[in-house]
Amino acid sequence: MRTLRGMKRRGDAFACLTCYDATSARWLDRAGVEVLLIGDTAAEMILGYERTIDMPLEIAIALTAAVRRGARRAMVMGDMPFLSYHCGDDESVGNAGRMMTEGQADVVKLEADASFAPLVERMTRSGIAVCGHVGSRPQTAALAGGYGSAGRTAGDAERIVADAVALEQAGAVMLLVEAVPAVVAERILGATSVPLIGIGAGPACDGQILVLHDLVGMTEAPPRFASRSAALGDALAEAGRDWVRRVRARSIGGEAYQMREGELEAFERAMPAAGLPRDGNAPGVDSRGADSR
Ligand code: KIV
Repeated sequence: MRTLRGMKRRGDAFACLTCYDATSARWLDRAGVEVLLIGDTAAEMILGYERTIDMPLEIAIALTAAVRRGARRAMVMGDMPFLSYHCGDDESVGNAGRMMTEGQADVVKLEADASFAPLVERMTRSGIAVCGHVGSRPQTAALAGGYGSAGRTAGDAERIVADAVALEQAGAVMLLVEAVPAVVAERILGATSVPLIGIGAGPACDGQILVLHDLVGMTEAPPRFASRSAALGDALAEAGRDWVRRVRARSIGGEAYQMREGELEAFERAMPAAGLPRDGNAPGVDSRGADSR
């Protein structure tokens, strides 16, 4: 938090991405991404559900812990899944606490409006660092009839700014605003003092976040605000096609294991070859067995 506050003070924007596994965390951390969010978008990106509300708490905790193990410097933010913080204050605080202890999150994120201020206050009193997610809140998509933008009427925009202010006053150490016109984010920046992360909320926010799979080109229909930096979906499919070709051609590459000196002759005496080549190795055996990892 000190790093992010310093960056905000200096006017340096910080980079955030969603991340759901230790290996990606290691690479993104090396790349200098400051915040890794284990978003409930894992329900779609990792588990194959159609809705983020299907994210199970237990899996969210496990994925958060995985990202923690991969990240060295980045802040790890755990996203509280649907209904994990709507179940009475005691259980909600307990669930957020699990995100920090079992999941090793630095901060937990809640989709919230001003009515969540008492819960945020209670979490804060318990020592839990909270990021309040305002604006478009995908966990309430059933009420709105789908995912979409927010803050496009004066009344809605005013309410979103008020939500952000209430959550900061309740103790939120950070805010995130999703899918609103840039002017709404600018008003939040003017009315609050904690770092504000934006997603589809204009360039003024202190930090910017995207869903990793949108950034790297692995989603079919990314939101309009997400522009790609890579085409990993195409690259992955091409690698898959290449592997299929190599397997069919019995040319799988890599280095084959060889039997130890003198062992091949003994083996052939004990078990005469039936179709195996003279060097005792099946064609195209890959060198990277479990023991070489
Ligand atoms: O769950 C998520 O990935 C998020 C981001 C879209 C901000 O909340």
